Amino acid sequence: MNDRVVFHDFHPAPDDLRAEVLAGLAAPRKYLAPKFFYDEAGSRLFDAICALPEYYPTRTEIGILRQHGAEMAALLGREALLIELGSGSSLKIRVLLAALRPAIYLPIDISRAHLRHSADELAAAFPELEVHAVCADYTRPLRLPIAAGARPRAAFFPGSSVGNFDPPAAERFLRRVGEMLGSGGHLLIGVDLRKDPAVLHAAYNDTQGVTAAFNLNLLRRINRELGADFDLGAFRHWAFFDDDRSRIEMHLVSERAQRVRVAEQVFVFESGETIHTENSYKYDVAGFQTLARAAGFKLLKVWCDENHWFSVHGLIWDGA
Ligand code: AVI
Repeated sequence: MNDRVVFHDFHPAPDDLRAEVLAGLAAPRKYLAPKFFYDEAGSRLFDAICALPEYYPTRTEIGILRQHGAEMAALLGREALLIELGSGSSLKIRVLLAALRPAIYLPIDISRAHLRHSADELAAAFPELEVHAVCADYTRPLRLPIAAGARPRAAFFPGSSVGNFDPPAAERFLRRVGEMLGSGGHLLIGVDLRKDPAVLHAAYNDTQGVTAAFNLNLLRRINRELGADFDLGAFRHWAFFDDDRSRIEMHLVSERAQRVRVAEQVFVFESGETIHTENSYKYDVAGFQTLARAAGFKLLKVWCDENHWFSVHGLIWDGA
């Protein structure tokens, strides 16, 4: 561990996973929250997804950050406390750090080992930067573990992770981010856009089967951490675009009628029954901006790639 990185550990207790998994599997339509994808193996698989030829969001967003980084930095201001939500491998922030020159970088991620590793690497690459790594579930209310003082505050929420919330939950979440930033705080947020459904379909059904492995890893995790007996060979990955709801849905489909034991409880699956594991909403620019405004943000600027596949929005907190 790099001794310049201050580590704040608010990792959710194992009981949270147990309670949420049991509630999701007991629901009339079984579901599991996508935040549980990100154990160590899941975080690695997600990095592999980001490098896939079909998964356009990562490289498209990085292209936008490279092209407009200086303008984004001018908007956000220097010497800020810069919070990154769901920092993962901290790949994207590296594109911006030289231009942004924050005083403090505070990445928040739920995957402890992944966060430690990437915060260490980042601190080594940027020796003048103060790094506070926070292991936490950012979908829950969070008090910052350090005082920002008079420094400007900014948050970076890339990757269209906002699309993993239903729109009303996204609005509530953005409001909480705004309250954490306080008046005048900036948010730079990456949002995936609606496009040809064939492109979307391919991005979540890659030919190498990495997305399928990522989805199925959720069951492997539950087997390991909750002593469950999911047969991974008896479930398959299923992802499709629902045009009316403007979202990709990911599911795990039970290939046969079966019973599964999870933490001493038995769950019955019919053949073809699914566990809904993720939604990934796709917005148009105006639709997302309406949502951001309703959450209390004022719009400063939006940047898109030339195909209009992905957008990055610069917002300022204006809420009460
Ligand atoms: C993290 N999140 C924005 C990704 C997405 O595209 O919704 C997670 C993902 N699921 C399958 N592929 C990628």
